[in-house]
Amino acid sequence: MEQCVKYFCCALLWLFFGDVSGLSSLTEQPVELSLSGKWRLSNSNGSLSLPAEVPGCVHSALQQQGHIPNPYFRFNDVSYRWIALDNWTYTTMFTVSTQLRLKQKVLLVFDGVDTVASISLNGVIVAKTDNMFRRYDLSVRDLLKDGDNMLEVSLLSPVIFASERRKAHSSYRVPPECPPDVQKGECHVNFIRKEQSSFSWDWGPSFPTMGLWKGVRLEAFDVLQLVQLSSLPLYNSSCSQWRLEIEFIVDAAQTKYGQVTISIPEVDSKQTYKTQFLQGKKKYNFTLHVNKNSQLKLWWPNGHGDQPFYHLTVRGFQDGFLILNTESKVFFRTVELIQEPIIGSPGLSFYFRINGKPVFLKGSNWIPAHSFQDQVTPDVLRNLLQSAVDANMNALRVWGGGVYEQDLFYDLCDEMGIMVWQDFMFACAMYPTEDDFIQTVREEVIQQVQRLKSHPSIIIWSGNNENEAALATDWFNIPASQRPTYIKDYLELYVNNIRLIVQEKDKSRPFLVSSPTNGAESEHEGWVAANPYDPHYGDVHFYSYVLDCWDWKTFPRTRFASEYGFQSWPSFSTLQPVSIKEDWSYDSHFTSHRQHHEGGNQQMLLQAALHFNLPNSTDPLKRFTDTLYVTQVMQAQCVKTQTEFYRRSQSEIIDGKGHTMGALYWQLNDIWQAPSWSSIEFGGKWKMLHNFAQNFFASVLPVGFEEDDTLFVYAVSDLSHDLKLRAAVTVYSWTDLDPVCTLTSPLLPVPGGAAVAVFKQTVTALLAGCGRCTRLSCLLTFHLEDSSGDRQGPSNHHFLCSPKHAQGLQKPNITAKVQEEKTGFTVALHSAAVAPFVWLDVGNIPGRFSSNGFLMVSRNKTVDFAAWRPTSVAELSRSLTITSLTDVY
Ligand SMILES: *[C@@H]1O[C@H](CO)[C@@H](O)[C@H](O)[C@H]1NC(C)=O
Ligand SMILES: *[C@@H]1O[C@H](CO)[C@@H](O)[C@H](O)[C@H]1NC(C)=O
Ligand SMILES: *[C@@H]1O[C@H](CO)[C@@H](O)[C@H](O)[C@H]1NC(C)=O
Ligand SMILES: *[C@@H]1O[C@H](CO)[C@@H](O)[C@H](O)[C@H]1NC(C)=O
Ligand SMILES: *[C@@H]1O[C@H](CO)[C@@H](O)[C@H](O)[C@H]1NC(C)=O
Ligand SMILES: *[C@@H]1O[C@H](CO)[C@@H](O)[C@H](O)[C@H]1NC(C)=O
Ligand SMILES: *[C@@H]1O[C@H](CO)[C@@H](O)[C@H](O)[C@H]1NC(C)=O
Repeated sequence: MEQCVKYFCCALLWLFFGDVSGLSSLTEQPVELSLSGKWRLSNSNGSLSLPAEVPGCVHSALQQQGHIPNPYFRFNDVSYRWIALDNWTYTTMFTVSTQLRLKQKVLLVFDGVDTVASISLNGVIVAKTDNMFRRYDLSVRDLLKDGDNMLEVSLLSPVIFASERRKAHSSYRVPPECPPDVQKGECHVNFIRKEQSSFSWDWGPSFPTMGLWKGVRLEAFDVLQLVQLSSLPLYNSSCSQWRLEIEFIVDAAQTKYGQVTISIPEVDSKQTYKTQFLQGKKKYNFTLHVNKNSQLKLWWPNGHGDQPFYHLTVRGFQDGFLILNTESKVFFRTVELIQEPIIGSPGLSFYFRINGKPVFLKGSNWIPAHSFQDQVTPDVLRNLLQSAVDANMNALRVWGGGVYEQDLFYDLCDEMGIMVWQDFMFACAMYPTEDDFIQTVREEVIQQVQRLKSHPSIIIWSGNNENEAALATDWFNIPASQRPTYIKDYLELYVNNIRLIVQEKDKSRPFLVSSPTNGAESEHEGWVAANPYDPHYGDVHFYSYVLDCWDWKTFPRTRFASEYGFQSWPSFSTLQPVSIKEDWSYDSHFTSHRQHHEGGNQQMLLQAALHFNLPNSTDPLKRFTDTLYVTQVMQAQCVKTQTEFYRRSQSEIIDGKGHTMGALYWQLNDIWQAPSWSSIEFGGKWKMLHNFAQNFFASVLPVGFEEDDTLFVYAVSDLSHDLKLRAAVTVYSWTDLDPVCTLTSPLLPVPGGAAVAVFKQTVTALLAGCGRCTRLSCLLTFHLEDSSGDRQGPSNHHFLCSPKHAQGLQKPNITAKVQEEKTGFTVALHSAAVAPFVWLDVGNIPGRFSSNGFLMVSRNKTVDFAAWRPTSVAELSRSLTITSLTDVY
C-alpha cells in the first residue's frame, strides 16, 4: 500500500509539477477585501458618534478621538465605568469589485468579536455572536450589492449581558457572583465567554471591553478556500519514524475531485492523496511519513538546543489546475508529561520530557499585556518575550483568565524556545453548563486547538485555572447538599467536553483538567481531588505573605511549582504618567485605589520589615520612591529564595517530597501601572525581580542555604553534559570591601540536569575559621568554578542575618560616570562600602541595564545600558539615580 502511494505520487509529479510556474498562472485567485480600518462608532442614544479603528475597541476609540483621557490615569477605571454599561454600534460602508461579486462564494470573516453582537449586512442580520474567542465565518454572497454596502455590528453591554444570563440561571448561583470590593469590578463574568480579567482582577482594572478586536474581511473564491492548515508531528518510537498529521479546513464552492500533494522538500518526503472536496466548510486530514533516513533536527526549549524548522508545502490540484498552494513551518519535537511512581516517595512524579530528555521548566505566568488588546503591538510582545528569554526562562504559562494569545505570540515562542503551558480561558470560578454555553465553548475549543496545535512551543493544554482547587477546598461556601451539582457541572465542562475535544484533535501533547491539580491522582479521585495542592502529585500554587519568605522551610517541596510570588510596586517613572503629586505617598487614595489585592500594600511592608529598615525620609517624595524600591527588594529576594529552593530540590527526595521539576513564578508582566506580582512593569521596565531571575534561572547556578546551623552550597545544572565543580565561598565584613577570607570545596561531579551539594560546613566553624566575624558583622558570597578555576554561572550571596541587624553596614556613597562607547552606554560605578541591592534607575528613559539590583562588594563596577530610544550621556547622567539599602533610612 505504501509503495502504491509513493508510485502514484511520482506519476502526479510528472504530470503536474513539470512546470509549476506555468500552472500557477492558471490558479484560481481568491479575492480578499479587508474591511479593517476606519469604521464609525456610536453609543445607544446617539450622543456620541466617532471614527473608530478596527481592529480596536470602544475604549481605545474614545481615547484616540479625544472623548476620554487615558483610561489608565488615576481613577479613570471607575470614572469611565459607564462605557461598558452602554451599547455600541460599529458601522462601515464599503464597495466591492465586480470581480469579487462574481465569485461563487463570498465569506464575511470576523477573526474576533468582543463579544455579544448582532451583525447585519445591508439591513439583514447575518449573525449573532456571544464568544470573544471564536472566529465567525459568514456566507454573504447574495447580500452584497453594487455601490455602497453597509455592515453594522451592534454590541450589547457585556456587563448587562452577564447579569441577564445570571438572572436566567435562577435555579442555583454560579459563584463568585461578584469580585471582591477592593477590585472595583463588575459581576458575573463567568456567564460570558470573554477575557475573565476584563471585569477586574487582583492585579488589574475593570475595563469590560467591547469591539472588533481582530480583523474583518471578505474572502471570495470560485473553487475553494483554505480556512486553516495545521500540522502535528507524531513520533512512533517503535519504528523510530516521524509522521505528520496534516489537517486542513477547506471551504469549497462546489463538490469537486482533486489531488493534494504534501511535501517537505528538505527531507525528501512527499505524498499525494486523491480527495473529494465536498461543498461547504469541511475538514480534511492527510498523513505524511517522513523519510526514515533523514536526520531530523529537533526543536528544543531555550537553553537546551536550537529551534530549527522545515518547510511544509501543500498543493491541491483539480483538473490540472493548481487550486491550493500554501507553505508553513513545521517543527519536530516530542513532549511527554511523566507521572510515575518514585522510589522513596509516595505519590507520582510530575515532569516534562522533551525529545526524551527531562527538562526543568523555568519561567513565569503570562497575563494579558493590556486591557485593550488592540494596543498589544508586535513590539510589546517581542519585548516581553525577549525579556523572558534574556532572564534564562524556558517556559511561560498562558493563564486561564486572559485570552488565547495572538498568533505572533506563539510564533515568537516557537522561535525563542519558550515552552507554553496553555490554559483554556476559565479561571477562579464555577461555570454554567446550559446547552448554548457548552455549544459556544465547544466551538471555541475546536477553533483554538486547530489554530494553535501546530506550535511546538505549546507543550500542554490545561482546562482551567484553579477551579478544581476552588471546588475541593470550597472557596465559595457551597453547602454540602449542593456540591454534587457543582461537581457535575465541572465534569461536564472540562472533562466531558473540553478534554474529549482536545484529546481527539491533538494527540501530540498532554492535557490536564486544571492547575493546580494532582494530575493522574485527581483523575483517580473523580477529577476533583481531596487536596489538589498535595505536594506528592501534580502542580502546586502556593502563596503566603505572612510567613518569612527568607525561610525556605515555609515553602511546599512540590513536584512542580506553577504559581508562587510576592507583590511589589512598579517604579516611580511608571506611575508618574498616570498620577499627580498628591498621589505620591504610600497612604494616598491613589495608592490604595491601584491595589486590588486586599491588604496588599500592608503585606508588602510587613514582609519587607522582617529584614529591612523601612524608609523614613522626611522628604515625602523620597520616602515614597524609597518605599517603592523596598517593595521591589523584598519581592526580588523572596522569589529568589523560593525559586532557588525549587531548583535545588530537583534531584532529592526529602521526607517523601521533592523531585521538583518546574518553577513558574507569578507573574511575568503587568496589565497597567499598579502593584502586582509581576517582574516586568507595564511598559517593559524590568523590576529588580526580573534582574534577579536572570541569575536564579541561569543554566548553572550556585544555591546557598542554611539548615540548622549548616551552610550548604548546591550546584544546579541544566546543561546536557556533566561538569566537575567546586564552590568558592568568600566571607566579607559589612564594613570592608576587601574579603575576610575564602574557602574552597573539593571538585565534585555535577551531572547535567541535576542539583548536587558541593559545599557543607557549619556557619559557626566557617566563621571561627575566618577570624573576626560574627553572623551580624559578616556576609557570604559564593560562586562555582571548574578545575581550571573558570567561573561557571553567576555569583550569589547569602546573608547571615537580616540586613536591618547588620553591624557596620554604611552608606556607600556610590558615584557614577556615564560614558558612551562604541557598543552603547556604560555606567562606571564607584562605591565606598559594601552595598546590598544597588539599584540604577534612569527614570522614563526606556531601556535596560545589563545588571541591576546587585550586591556591590567591589570598589568599582561597570554596567551597560541599552537605550530603546536615542539618548545622550548628558540626559542619562541627569536622570540617573542610585539607591542601595542604606540610602532609604
Ligand atoms: C446618552 O448616553 C450617554 C452615555 O450613556 C449619557 O451620558 C447621556 O446622558 C445620554 N443622553 C441622553 C440625551 O439620554
Ligand atoms: C442596551 O441594550 C439592551 C438590550 O437591548 C437594553 O436592555 C438596554 O437598555 C440598552 N442599554 C442602553 C444604555 O440603551
Ligand atoms: C508504530 O509503528 C509500528 C511498526 O511499524 C506499528 O505497528 C504501529 O502501529 C505504529 N504506531 C502508531 C501509533 O502508528
Ligand atoms: C484522518 O483521520 C482519521 C481519524 O483520526 C484517521 O483514521 C485517518 O487515518 C486519517 N487519514 C489520513 C490520510 O491520515
Ligand atoms: C558616606 O558619606 C557620609 C557623609 O559624607 C559619610 O559620613 C560616610 O562615612 C560615607 N561613607 C563611607 C563608607 O565612606
Ligand atoms: C575605580 O574607580 C575610581 C573612581 O572612578 C577610579 O579612580 C579608580 O582608578 C578605579 N579603580 C580601578 C582599579 O579601576
Ligand atoms: C530612620 O531610621 C533609622 C534607622 O532606624 C534611624 O537611625 C534614623 O534616625 C531615622 N530617621 C528619621 C528621619 O527618622
